[in-house]
Amino acid sequence: MIETKKLDYPDDFINQFLCGNTVDIMKQLPDESVDLIVTSPPYNLKNSTGNGMKNGRGGKWSNAALINGYSHYNDNMAHDDYVQWQRECLTEMVRIIPENGAIFYNHKWRVQAGLLQDRNDIVLGFPVRQIIIWKRKGGINFNPGYFLPTYEVIYLIAKPKFKLAKKANAHGDIWEFGQESKNKHPAPFPVALIERIISSTNAKIILDPFMGSGTTALAAKRLGKNFIGIDISPEYCEMALQRLDNPSSVMNKKVVHQQSSLF
Ligand SMILES: C[S@@+](CC[C@H](N)C(=O)[O-])C[C@H]1O[C@@H](n2cnc3c(N)ncnc32)[C@H](O)[C@@H]1O
Repeated sequence: MIETKKLDYPDDFINQFLCGNTVDIMKQLPDESVDLIVTSPPYNLKNSTGNGMKNGRGGKWSNAALINGYSHYNDNMAHDDYVQWQRECLTEMVRIIPENGAIFYNHKWRVQAGLLQDRNDIVLGFPVRQIIIWKRKGGINFNPGYFLPTYEVIYLIAKPKFKLAKKANAHGDIWEFGQESKNKHPAPFPVALIERIISSTNAKIILDPFMGSGTTALAAKRLGKNFIGIDISPEYCEMALQRLDNPSSVMNKKVVHQQSSLF
């Protein structure tokens, strides 16, 4: 294991992008130090087996893997290892939010060997309060065995005292936001989706432990909130920095590089 640089809270974290292994970095955050976590982990899509249909042009779930993949992560873990890793991430996330904190954990259900694989094995035992359906735009469905998949899920994992901001409950639990275009990251959030989440809470410090191109940071900044962004890829950390760099009102920006013990 490579030793990581010791980080100090809050100076090394608030409004910073930290480049390294998310669990190692989250372990350096004190208990109850962030109000809200908004994130989308890698979905382990390269580990897809296919959907159990003999034919189905375009319908194989192995084709659901990102076309170009991530720059520093191959998204292809053995399923049990992946579940264990995500549960370790969630354990850290739960530790660092306060009694009125929440985690919006975006994931995607899929079909493995012909059977629906929801993500219950990851979230089991964590305080899931609600599932929000994020309805995305559909594509073309060549697969005669399945209706066209059009949604992802957002698990609202909340501690007991978490409350929504005033009137946010009126949004309901099915949210329609189209995919983000004009972003070179292979799997970016739409900015408007993250603005909806952040403005539905009273949070002041928002962490994204898989921040990719920095969408959560951008949304937080637009709403006048503080952010902490973590990603394993130096390329994406730079991308996030560039995205925030304009206008120049973000304070003291830099990417802190951490060495990873995971890979
Ligand atoms: C689904 S993407 C997040 C995209 C982000 N929501 C956006 O709007 O751009 C998942 C991210 O997790 C990062 N990642 C993978 N393994 C990681 C690890 N061990 N530690 C930190 N980041 C990791 C990948 O580099 C990728 O950018």
